[in-house]
Amino acid sequence: MSKKVILSGDRPTGPLHIGHYLGTLKSRVEMQHDYETFIMVADAQAITDNVGDIAKVRNNIFEVVCDYLAVGIDPKISHIFIQSCLPQLPELTMYFLNVVSIQRIGHNPTVKSEMKTRGYTDSVPAGFYLYPIYQVADIVAFGTHVVPVGNDQVPMIELARDVVRNFNEQFNKEVLVLPEVYQPKIGARLPGVDGNKMSKSQGNAIYLSDENDEIIKKIKKMKSDPNRKSLEDPGDPSEAVAFSYLEAFHPDPRRVEELKEHYQRGGMPDKVLKEETAQVLIAFIEPIRERRKEFSSQPDLVYEIIRKGTMAAEAKAAKTLAAVKEAMGINYPFIKPHVLQ
Ligand code: TRP
Repeated sequence: MSKKVILSGDRPTGPLHIGHYLGTLKSRVEMQHDYETFIMVADAQAITDNVGDIAKVRNNIFEVVCDYLAVGIDPKISHIFIQSCLPQLPELTMYFLNVVSIQRIGHNPTVKSEMKTRGYTDSVPAGFYLYPIYQVADIVAFGTHVVPVGNDQVPMIELARDVVRNFNEQFNKEVLVLPEVYQPKIGARLPGVDGNKMSKSQGNAIYLSDENDEIIKKIKKMKSDPNRKSLEDPGDPSEAVAFSYLEAFHPDPRRVEELKEHYQRGGMPDKVLKEETAQVLIAFIEPIRERRKEFSSQPDLVYEIIRKGTMAAEAKAAKTLAAVKEAMGINYPFIKPHVLQ
């Protein structure tokens, strides 16, 4: 039997951080052996809110792919590709727009909060408003069974499931695969150093490419329990960002419990907690950063990986598009699209 498919991706608007790692990269690396794996650099989606800075999007494609390779995505078994290189995706989007309402698209909490942070109150670009349908095409085009993503992406997979159901119902066929979301148990929500959601735009992220001194500098600014006036006071570990990082990355969970108890009891200097957190993060990031440097010093190798991945991805998407058109009855045997010739 052929393997089931996973697909996931990232907008290339900056390098990836430890929140991406825990929320999705780690799952992709673990699952790539059991699934046929497609990993998309979503440049077209990034353009929907960066039309004035396409150079940034373009330049970050290479950075994001280096992050993938550094964390252990294996290009021998996984297909890493560029979204905009597949014309089948916008074509599928166009057909899917007919089986979903504008109201349904508007019910997406992720898009609502993105619109708020981007100040799109009166005039939201149409491309941005509709990008979730484009993302549905991203998912469906590969016959995807499972989408490993962080929890902000869950509404997109719910939308994809609605579109798949509507499409299959409308055309009375089992053409499209119903995708499922996969989320890791811990760390799906790793906070930034200031305690808010970790995000490139908030300046509170720790990157997989950060040098040790940058990590130390960021950890020094890390939020701890604001109600704790002196170090003798008991602290609330759920208020201190350090514990989220320690729980996610400390190799010894018993040590984390010990630190937590000490923090609750009182008498734990923030400095000690921060030093240990910085050490733990450095131990995790350093080998990734060094592997990343090996890849980024060989751009030809990286581009070849992307080229091969994009070819494999396009072949798969072309098959899905042909099946979709056939199901809809818009395949015209007397004229074939050139990609199928
Ligand atoms: N929206 C995702 C993000 O902002 C990126 C993305 C685009 C994606 N297409 C996808 C994720 C398909 C999963 C599946 O990070």
